[in-house]
Amino acid sequence: MTDRKLRVVVTRRLPEPIETRMSELFDARLNDSDEPMSAAELGAAIREADVLVPTLSDHIDQKLLAQAGPDMRLIANYGAGFDHIDVETARRRGITVTNTPGVLAEDTADMCMALILGVPRRISEGLTLMRSGEWHGWTPTGLTGSRIWGKRLGILGMGRIGQAVARRAKAFGLQVHYHNRRRLHQTVERDLDATYWDSLDQMLARIDILSINCPHTPATYHLLSSRRLQLMKQGAYIVNTARGEVIDENALTRALESGHIAGAGLDVFEMEPAVPAVNPRLLELPNVVLLPHMGSATTEGRIDMGEKVIMNIRTFADGHTPPDKVVPAMM
Ligand code: DGY
Repeated sequence: MTDRKLRVVVTRRLPEPIETRMSELFDARLNDSDEPMSAAELGAAIREADVLVPTLSDHIDQKLLAQAGPDMRLIANYGAGFDHIDVETARRRGITVTNTPGVLAEDTADMCMALILGVPRRISEGLTLMRSGEWHGWTPTGLTGSRIWGKRLGILGMGRIGQAVARRAKAFGLQVHYHNRRRLHQTVERDLDATYWDSLDQMLARIDILSINCPHTPATYHLLSSRRLQLMKQGAYIVNTARGEVIDENALTRALESGHIAGAGLDVFEMEPAVPAVNPRLLELPNVVLLPHMGSATTEGRIDMGEKVIMNIRTFADGHTPPDKVVPAMM
């Protein structure tokens, strides 16, 4: 790439061992404040850097990419999802984009499973009751939820995370159903005891709990539309640890308010730019567990993600195709 140390601009604070290693290897410009960069700051970064390391809270669009300086060759995203990056424009400008898949699948699946268990079993309502000091002891009818064992779980998106969820779900006695762009190999289906549905609509009508595990792409935007939510069984549950944009959040809010959907566990939201905006009506619903996009938030996972970023940068700088190059077919 160049003989001098690579100028790598990192837009947010990363785990300390990763920042230390980056400072050893590169001319790393770190963001000590951890404040999201403004559009002007991102513009300055992309003009000066050889490599930009953004996160999902940075919007890397056509307008920003038009400001790229002559040395900007790589956007090494810290995160698996890359829907905040205009990959096609980057490609046309000769800028490679990489991400960090794989290392966060198990952690995200754990959080997904926590919501699959926690929402139907009303854990958040139990916590609220305990904290209120209003719990007056056990009763036969108090806070009864919905049984998990034997229920049908539908997984929308059976990539690494979806499959990790399926393995966990199987151990909890859930019947696993899935819809995916491509059907899994028979041996994988057999291992997971998973039933494939070519038609999402037909699967939705038959499941008790839906887990969203697909990426946000133009094809999956509002895939869970108002019409599809209405296809779901009365009293079904929805868990989303993928991207908020896959669900029409207003339609979901209405379905929760009416009781058609019995509860939802949401770790992601439709409006998640640098400063996210969570629908206030969702915040008021008792049958909803909202988490601040923390599916991959383990110390180990966040370090692994940073290691992947470093590996992608170094491989690219050595003149090779980085292991996690994002290709348009993935979109
Ligand atoms: C990702 O990497 O895209 C995740 O959403 C971060 O948790």
